[in-house]
Amino acid sequence: MPGTDERYRNCLVNLRPRGQDHVLRWWDGLASGERERLLDDLESIPWDVLDKLIPTHVLSQPNTALVGELLPAPIYPRIPGPDQQTLYEEAVRVGRERIAGGKVAALTVAGGQGTRLGFAGPKGAVPVTPVGGKTLFQLFAETVLAAGRRYGVSIPWYVMTSPANHYETVDFLVRHHFFGLPRRDVIVFQQGMLPAFDFAGRLLLEDKHRLALAPDGHGGVLKALLRSGALADMQARGVEVISYFQVDNPLVKPFDPLFIGLHALTQSEMSTKVARKADDLERVGNLCLRDGRLTVIEYSEFPEIHARVQNADGRRRFDAGNLAMHLLDVGFVQRITSRSFELPCRRAEKVVPFINDDGSLVSPSTPNAIKLETFIFDALPSATNPLALEVDRTEEFSPVKNLTGVDSLESAKHDQIRRACRWLEAAGVKVPRDPNGEPDVTVEISPLFALDAEELATKKDQIPALKSAATVYLQ
Ligand code: UTP
Repeated sequence: MPGTDERYRNCLVNLRPRGQDHVLRWWDGLASGERERLLDDLESIPWDVLDKLIPTHVLSQPNTALVGELLPAPIYPRIPGPDQQTLYEEAVRVGRERIAGGKVAALTVAGGQGTRLGFAGPKGAVPVTPVGGKTLFQLFAETVLAAGRRYGVSIPWYVMTSPANHYETVDFLVRHHFFGLPRRDVIVFQQGMLPAFDFAGRLLLEDKHRLALAPDGHGGVLKALLRSGALADMQARGVEVISYFQVDNPLVKPFDPLFIGLHALTQSEMSTKVARKADDLERVGNLCLRDGRLTVIEYSEFPEIHARVQNADGRRRFDAGNLAMHLLDVGFVQRITSRSFELPCRRAEKVVPFINDDGSLVSPSTPNAIKLETFIFDALPSATNPLALEVDRTEEFSPVKNLTGVDSLESAKHDQIRRACRWLEAAGVKVPRDPNGEPDVTVEISPLFALDAEELATKKDQIPALKSAATVYLQ
């Protein structure tokens, strides 16, 4: 292990020719532990990647104008057409078989900073359920546990964190005994970080001995799976398909036999769930066919003219919103990470507090920095036979991004109650509703009680009658 002086000299060799040695200007006043921290940060900078990106993504705006042919994506419908009924039935059978055979693992990406929610701690530790106040991590762990029990198999759950929240996440899971999952089946691994730059392309310091670093985006999961050994762990367990979802969605159904079966039967390397858009300009990615390849185009890059165009029947022409739920073959991840594959990089202008030239901490109120990220859905165009399945958004998607309003903790609680009430009604239970048709009860169904409406229907005799304004917890 080289000593501090040697590490310092090596860092300087990288920094000086790039005009970045200002980050060492406080060196003389740093304590020895602080010097080590700064060197750790500096040694983590992937200059081979950044040398290419700084001119194109930091010092200038990458060209995101859409060129080429853009068509609506072919989508497997939520309800199969008459000619698809046999395929869907077969897919459900195959999907169940794949899960029961231990071929499917769950993967939660939880490395984000959750700045919009502003919760002090990892987003997965936010209490989110309407009655029991369960956290997102508990919900997912119980979903994995319940699916394992249903199919008679141990299902591994992989959780990606980032250095920004890794220790807090591990501590949280350990304190809660992995919510009943065997320790060996919960694999927590970290994604990489990238430095933030000012608009002149200079590295920013968040402290005199710390670079301003941010997680490298959910696309960082691909390299992180490889680097951390999680991918090898999957291979050793015989896992073939990764069910990927975000930490913020309490309605997620990671073990959907139809989706998993269609993915298998069509030999798709990467599949994705979509829902009809809530409105033309909804802030979700648009799944399209770009130059013949299945591609998600971010709302910010999707021209309004395309977003508003309608078919002759009055339906939106581009109407497939990305829900951030994907299936990825382990072999696909192995294939693309083992060659010099890079997901396209995205530039985001953000507010990043920094140490100025006088050594004072500045907290800007408007964006002052550029962060670089990659997105997992940008792997879709590289997949063979990629597939998209339409699902009912109200059944599967309610992301917690904000505290209140759209896509919030508040709306996610309501959406959980609404879904629980639909399942109860489907089981023949009478649900009191207010004059607007909204449930007049607060209900929570634990994944350990029922994973879906069908399972709930088998437990009808355990469900009490629902009185107006009642609170019911089925656990
Ligand atoms: P978001 O885009 O919502 O970002 O992430 P965020 O960091 O959670 O929240 P904001 O934008 O700061 O408010 C979508 C999903 O991708 C994960 C998040 O944890 C979330 O599950 N993610 C995001 C990562 O795992 N790593 C990243 O670098 C970014």
